[in-house]
Amino acid sequence: MNKEKLNLHRRKFTQKLIAAGSGLLASGFTSCAQATEEPVKTKRAFRFAHFGDTHVGGGSTMPLCASPEGLPKAIKHVQAIKDTPEFILHTGDIITDAFWATEEISKSQWEIYRGIMQEHCNLPVHYTLGNHDVNFDWGYGGEGALFPGKALAMEQLGMISPYYSFDHGGWHFIVLDDTQPGGWVGFQIYLDDAQFAWLEKDLQETDPITPILIASHAPILSAACFFEPLGKKHPDGLVIDNSCVHQDIVKIHDLFRKHRNVKLCLSGHYHQIDHIQYLGVHHICGGAVCANYWKAPLPYRPEFEAGYGVVDLFSDGSFEYRFNDYGLVGYMDNPDRKHYPWGKI
Ligand SMILES: [Fe+2]
Ligand SMILES: [Fe+2]
Repeated sequence: MNKEKLNLHRRKFTQKLIAAGSGLLASGFTSCAQATEEPVKTKRAFRFAHFGDTHVGGGSTMPLCASPEGLPKAIKHVQAIKDTPEFILHTGDIITDAFWATEEISKSQWEIYRGIMQEHCNLPVHYTLGNHDVNFDWGYGGEGALFPGKALAMEQLGMISPYYSFDHGGWHFIVLDDTQPGGWVGFQIYLDDAQFAWLEKDLQETDPITPILIASHAPILSAACFFEPLGKKHPDGLVIDNSCVHQDIVKIHDLFRKHRNVKLCLSGHYHQIDHIQYLGVHHICGGAVCANYWKAPLPYRPEFEAGYGVVDLFSDGSFEYRFNDYGLVGYMDNPDRKHYPWGKI
């Protein structure tokens, strides 16, 4: 490549990075070392949509504002894409909050969510459990449990296990359940021993030439965690709280090193958007459909707009991820909006 062409190529690459900063166009095709050469793309295997943090339903001990309009708007936006995604992968925090809520309020939130999905969504949805979908009364519904932790969420979503895997279009999907008891806020993020053993087995049993995508609610690896209010306020300085990212990140990444077909990890939880590549594994935290809890005036990274990811997966294990802003801007300024009032159903 001559010098003039190389400069042109560099300018184009810089423009791409600027675009990525404003709307996140992440790609598994390029790396730093390859940035000056256009890679040859293989045929796309399929497309799906990534939903993070819908927080639908309102009414909770948390002063959150629900939106019976926002989620339908996002779903319609996905379904209007000309090359429609084949399914939605939801990475959790589906309802406003069950964690500190009563069973009655939690059920009301699920009812609202399910009603919206039945009315508006024509696509299959694969679910990941988030911390706000489960109750702090941990366990899976043992005898005498008043409100058995994850059981209600699983029942509402028709899940037979809080973690599972499936195959689609030549890719293998692994969905993790990373909200665990403990920690100073009532939960912490890691895989318990049984789930980690299951993950090891599932990876082992997957053909090494099959690319793997891993979904978790909280990121396995994240840049967003440095901007988490909990960490910023700690008296000892910057601390990554154990309710933020995977406490077992080293253990998980060591496992990934044995399975180089793990290509992409998708998550939510932070309501922020970031993309990290570490030792060949791409980690994308895909923002939130509800943005800042439907624009609630909470000190929670209001810079990030409401949106969802459009993910194109390719048969060679590469991918493209585009963050789609579905146009919620101005929602809270609309006097005609019919949202549920603060703290009430
Ligand atoms: Fe969330
Ligand atoms: Fe969360």
